[in-house]
Order: sequence, then structure tokens, then C-alpha cells
Amino acid sequence: MVDSVKLTIVGSGYVGLSLAVLLAQHNDVTLLDIDGSQVDKVNSKQSTVVDKEIESFLTKKELSLFATLDKQGAYKDASFIVVATPTNYDPETNRFDTSSVDSVVDDALSINTKALIVIKSTIPVGHTKRLQQKHQTNRVIFSPEFLREGQALKDNLYPSRIVVGSQLDVAKEFAGLLVQSAMKDDIETLFIRSTEAEAVKLFANTFLAMRVSFFNELDSYALAHDLDTKSIIKGVCLDQRIGDGYNNPSFGYGGYCLPKDTKQLLANYEQVPQNLIQAIVSSNITRKDFVAEEILKLKPKIVGFYRLVMKAGSDNFRSSAIQGIMKRIKAKGIEVVIYEPTLHEEIFFGSRVLGNIDEFKRKSDIIVANRRSDALEDVHAKCFSRDLFGDN
Ligand SMILES: NC(=O)c1ccc[n+]([C@@H]2O[C@H](COP(=O)([O-])OP(=O)(O)OC[C@H]3O[C@@H](n4cnc5c(N)ncnc54)[C@H](O)[C@@H]3O)[C@@H](O)[C@H]2O)c1
Repeated sequence: MVDSVKLTIVGSGYVGLSLAVLLAQHNDVTLLDIDGSQVDKVNSKQSTVVDKEIESFLTKKELSLFATLDKQGAYKDASFIVVATPTNYDPETNRFDTSSVDSVVDDALSINTKALIVIKSTIPVGHTKRLQQKHQTNRVIFSPEFLREGQALKDNLYPSRIVVGSQLDVAKEFAGLLVQSAMKDDIETLFIRSTEAEAVKLFANTFLAMRVSFFNELDSYALAHDLDTKSIIKGVCLDQRIGDGYNNPSFGYGGYCLPKDTKQLLANYEQVPQNLIQAIVSSNITRKDFVAEEILKLKPKIVGFYRLVMKAGSDNFRSSAIQGIMKRIKAKGIEVVIYEPTLHEEIFFGSRVLGNIDEFKRKSDIIVANRRSDALEDVHAKCFSRDLFGDN
């Protein structure tokens, strides 16, 4: 058994909060953020993200968890500082903007001279090594985070694997804390270098994006030739080497991670010859163009967009594929209305948001839904979706 340890986790979003809740079962966890509303929520046992397990753990479990805006206090005595701040893709530089991670590492190293700093944010391949060289330390390491939004804590309670980018004893101690708080037995744990660990994260997500793109392009082909996509996918996926699952067509891969991580991996290739990585990035654009054209062929006057979230059960619509379809339809001068209950504005990017679903159904000539819903059963005939298997 590992003794109770002081950890500070920086960033209280999906990654930070799920790790904080996980680790606060057995350790003293401080959660640092720059957003006071996030801090207040956590301190009043409310989740900052929609996640059943996090909500339940916060209210029902005995956790040693305290959120704060005070970085001095948060960093001072921690044995481990875990970084879970955003790394958004910057279209100007074609790379991640790592400034939040870099500034956290700067502060943490200057305030605390002993702690191991574990970067959980997704970063470019080679970034940890650059930070280690810049600060002349091996106290900064990378450990990829594999959780999915909507089941963030569950994915950390039952992790597919734990990967830590260091062979140091203290890094093994960190992995031990993750294992201790998880509910799964025999978790495969890899201790590799941080650069390889960074590559693991970007290649894993790019592989997932490739799989989504593959079945989407299969669907584009079937649609263009009037073939039944579902029969083809079933037949293809009965081969165990291909496997059933993660094969439901959509408007494209989306969400916070896949679009940006594929682009970052492509940027990392720079001087290295490749075709596939570029194709995975381009395929998502081609798919959205194709889907938009299919909708335009139906000659609608008003197109309704049902939910802007990426997948059912999601609470945000960061980089959701359906927004790409919406932009393309709007660019053709066609009126768009939106039904998205998490949106409180009346207008979203110049289009009306309708709070009343019946009005939304009446107004729309075609209803575009990335994922089908029982709520659309009565307007089935005017729905456009490529959701064939009813899962995410
Ligand atoms: N969301 C996912 O499914 C997922 C999965 C794996 C990895 N990741 C990676 O983890 C990182 C975080 O993602 P997320 O979805 O948890 O982000 P998020 O946007 O949900 O949360 C980020 C939090 O960090 C806070 N923050 C921003 N700058 C800060 C700073 N300088 N100091 C302290 N707090 C700061 C924000 O206020 C916010 O609460 C990203 O690099 C992402 O690519 C995300």
C-alpha cells in the first residue's frame, strides 16, 4: 500500500477533475485553476463537467479534495504536480499552443524544488524533452491521458493502460498512485521515455481518427453507389482482425482531441515522408464536404441542426463535426435553425437557436443529426443522419 501523498492537479476540466477525484480517494489533492467559478463548483461538490461517476464520487465518497486559485499555496508542499491545462491547436502556427502548460511548469519549478511534475495535457512529440533541457531538470515528465469525455472517471477507474514517461523511482511511485486508486486488477503499466509517451498519445488518437475516417469513407462510397452501408460494415467487421465496434458512420471525427491531435502529429512529421497522416487530416474535410453536398441535393429551404454536441451524452460541442456541416450549408445561403438545449443564446453564429423542439421540427425542411435520438422519432422522414448503429 502507498501512503497518503500530497498532490496538486492544475486545471479542473475533464482530465484534471477526473484525476483529482480518482486520486483524492487515498491522497490529499489540491486542484488549482485560474477560473473562480470552476473552483467554487468543486468546493461545493459539483462537477465542472457532465460525468455521472465524477458527480457521484463528489457527493458520496469521502475525498480529500480542495480547489483553489492560489498557486503559491497549491505548489508549495506538493510531492506531485499534475498538469491538465488546455493545449488548443493554433491555426496560425499549425501546432498546439502549449503556453498554459509551459507557464504552469515554470511556476511549479520555481515555487517547489522537489515535486515531480507530470504533464497529462496532450503535447507535441519532443515537448517534455525541450522543457527538461530548458529547465535543466528531469523532474518534468509526460504521462498520456486516455480518458473519454462523458466517462472520464470510469476510464481512470478502469484504465486501458498506464503509460509513464520516465524510469525514475518517483515516476513509478506516481504510477502506483494511479493503480492504487483504480478499480481494475492487473493494469498494464509502461515506463518509457517521455518523447515516446508523447508519441503514444498522438499515434493512438490518430489511429482512432483513421478508423472513424475509414468507415466514413466506406459510407460515402456506399451512398454514392446506392449501396447499404450497414451490410457492408457488418460483413467487413466480422473479421476478428478488423473487429466490430467504433465503426458507426458519422459526419466526421470531432470533439476536443481527435481533430487537434491528428493535426499536431502531422506537424511533428515535418521532414519525415508520409501519406497516411495527411490523408487522415484531409479525409475529415472531404467527408464533411460530401455530407453537406448530400444534404444540399435535397434542396431544403430551412435546415434544422439537432444538437451541436459531438456525441450523445456530451455536454460541450468543441470541434464537433456537425458544426462543419452547418458552416457549409450556411455558406450556400440556406437558412439554418438550431436545437441545442445547452445553448442559452438566441443566436449562434448568426443562426436562430430554437428552444422549443416542436417549433424546431415544424420550421425545418430537413433535420440534420449526427446521432439519432428517440426525440426525433415522429419526424424520422425528414431526418438526415448517418448514424446506422445507434452508438457513439
Ligand atoms: N477532454 C478529453 O477527452 C481529453 C482526453 C485526453 C487528454 N486531454 C488533454 O488534456 C488537456 C486538458 O483537457 P481538458 O478537456 O481537461 O480541458 P478543459 O478545457 O476541460 O479544462 C482545462 C481547465 O484548465 C484551466 N486552466 C487553463 N489555463 C490554466 C492555467 N494556466 N492554470 C490553471 N488552470 C488553467 C481551465 O480554466 C479549465 O478549468 C488538453 O491538453 C487535452 O488535449 C483531453
